[in-house]
Amino acid sequence: MSLHKTVRKVTTHVLIAMKLRGEKIAMLTAYDYSMARILDKAAIDVILVGDSASNVMAGHDTTIPVTLDQMIYHAAGVVRAVRRALVVVDLPFGTYQGNSRKALSSAIRIMKETGAHAVKLEGGSEVLKSIQRILSAGIPVMGHLGLMPQSIHKFGTYVVRATDDDEADKLVEDAHSLEEVGCFAIVLEKIPAKLAGKVAREIKIPIIGIGAGKDVDGQVLVLHDMLGITQEFSPRFLRRYHNLYQEILGAVETYISDVRTLDFPNDKEQY
Ligand code: KIV
Repeated sequence: MSLHKTVRKVTTHVLIAMKLRGEKIAMLTAYDYSMARILDKAAIDVILVGDSASNVMAGHDTTIPVTLDQMIYHAAGVVRAVRRALVVVDLPFGTYQGNSRKALSSAIRIMKETGAHAVKLEGGSEVLKSIQRILSAGIPVMGHLGLMPQSIHKFGTYVVRATDDDEADKLVEDAHSLEEVGCFAIVLEKIPAKLAGKVAREIKIPIIGIGAGKDVDGQVLVLHDMLGITQEFSPRFLRRYHNLYQEILGAVETYISDVRTLDFPNDKEQY
């Protein structure tokens, strides 16, 4: 029987066992109680309270402005909804880079104030000290390599990363370092599928891809993108499972019309 069908609570150990058995891991983002309830009911393995909240919830152009307090607000709502999934929370920009003490205190705030199960942060060798310190407090860490949206002003663009040998070699080296230091999983974002497959084969911890092809241990998408709530963002890797933008627009237009024409409320919808 598949692990994902039998486990009552997904832990970091369950994810590693899933990789060992060749069972794929399904991960989605969520930022609020109502959506997280649906995802958990559907038996998603991992819910990521991503700093993509900065884009899809707050309307910023990048993930840079979202604050630790805002991430804690989002994550606390998600955790209240979840019974089964592992909840991972992004450490936002400026809360862990270059200062491992600050990294630890940011991660501790997330764990204490939200009840989440793990944190995620972007980067390899540059943030190893921060990761080590967070791990030393018993907080599980998920790494994130490839396209790292918090470094958008360094990259200058959201194009596919690690297409040249130097960047690919550095990514493989970083993935090994993240495994050795004790991360329980790594997200690889928008890199060539061949490279992602190589990393997933070489490394024992689960590799979760977004725009990294199918030869990895699991997939993650931003919920608002896969549901078709966002319209303007359509990279090649994004499969839209719904067109909720149109559905919601249609429902709201019908409601407005019903109010204006006195169709709503009717006799049965009043006291
Ligand atoms: O913030 C986010 O949603 C993410 C995913 C794209 C992996 O980091």
